[in-house]
Order: sequence, then structure tokens, then C-alpha cells
Amino acid sequence: MAAAKPFLSDIQTIRDRARRHMEQGAITPSYTLDRDTVLKLLNEALATEIVCVLRYKAHYYLASGINAKSVAAEFLEHANEEQQHADQIAERITQLDGTPNFEPDGLSSRSHSEFVVPDDLAAMIEENLVAERIAIDSYREIINFIGDADTTTRRMLEEILAVEEEHAEDMKTLMEDFGEKGEPAKPKSTRPSMMKPAAKVREVGPRTRK
Ligand SMILES: [Fe+2]
Ligand SMILES: [Fe+2]
Repeated sequence: MAAAKPFLSDIQTIRDRARRHMEQGAITPSYTLDRDTVLKLLNEALATEIVCVLRYKAHYYLASGINAKSVAAEFLEHANEEQQHADQIAERITQLDGTPNFEPDGLSSRSHSEFVVPDDLAAMIEENLVAERIAIDSYREIINFIGDADTTTRRMLEEILAVEEEHAEDMKTLMEDFGEKGEPAKPKSTRPSMMKPAAKVREVGPRTRK
């Protein structure tokens, strides 16, 4: 920190600046980041969260169908938390005078994580762990990019990152417990035929990763 730097600009300068460009809302001249880049990164994070909601929801209904209630409950809890993250990010994009991108077209290529729905519980848990680890890495990178230049966005992303770390830990624990608690997916040969339509890995869009 530069010792010579005054703690604040003089109050009159701050007041004058605040009256200019009022249409920019929360964006004041002291916002030193490239806003387009921040908005692009936040929209990618938004797409990532939406894909995570969809993936956890798909896994929730599938796991409920194979009677894996406690695992399904965990998927649903995560789906709801990813939805909260999506809402937080969309709100911040709006505060930064951007437009949250909810366009379904291109969603999976904007997203860092993938929409993969395997047909058995172990593979679902693994897929979620992979997605959480992708989210963790990309949030860390965005936080590093933002640095101290936008503390509100940074704080929000740090809070989300902490939840993603919990999610990853939850999935790791489920993986470790898998098969020990008597509630895993049934062996392939005895799986009910109603599960057949989902018995393939589906992907939407290209597997593009940032
Ligand atoms: Fe999330
Ligand atoms: Fe997550």
C-alpha cells in the first residue's frame, strides 16, 4: 500500500463525481476494472450456475427414481443453492449495468461445467464432484482477476466459492460412503426398466471449457 496516497479524495471531488454519470448507478469513476470483461466473466459464472441447477435437478429426479433418497436430497439441496448463486450473480450483473444472460441458446458453451446425466448413482456423484471442482477453479481465477478493484463482486464470489467447496466436500463424502450405507443404486441387471430412457450419458452442446 502506498503510504503517500491519501485515504480519500477530497469530499468535494467525490460529490462532484457522484453527480456525473448518474445513469451508471453503482458504477462510479473509481471502478477501475474493464467492465465488459467483468460482465463476460459474471455471465459465464451465471451460465455455469444454471447448468449446475439443471444437472443437480436431473440427478435429483433420477436418484429419487432409483430410491436413493438421501443422495437425492443432497442433490436437491445443491440445486437450490446453485439457484441462489445464479440469482446473486444476476443481481450483481444488473448493478454493474450489464444484462444477465438467460438465453438457453449457447448456455452450455458459456458454462464452464457440463450437463452430464449418467444412469447410475456413483457416476452421478462423480460427475457432480468434477463440476464442483471446475466451479472452484473458475471462481478462484475470477477472484484473482478482480483482485481489490471490485470488493463487492469479490466478496460475493468468495461467498459462493466457499459454498462450492462445501459442495465438493459433500460429493467426496458421498463417494466415500457409497456402497457402505445400503442405499446405493441397484446393480445394472436388476435396474427397473423405467430407468432405461435415461440409461445413457447425455450432453447438451459442445464440451467447450474455458
Ligand atoms: Fe454454485
Ligand atoms: Fe456447487
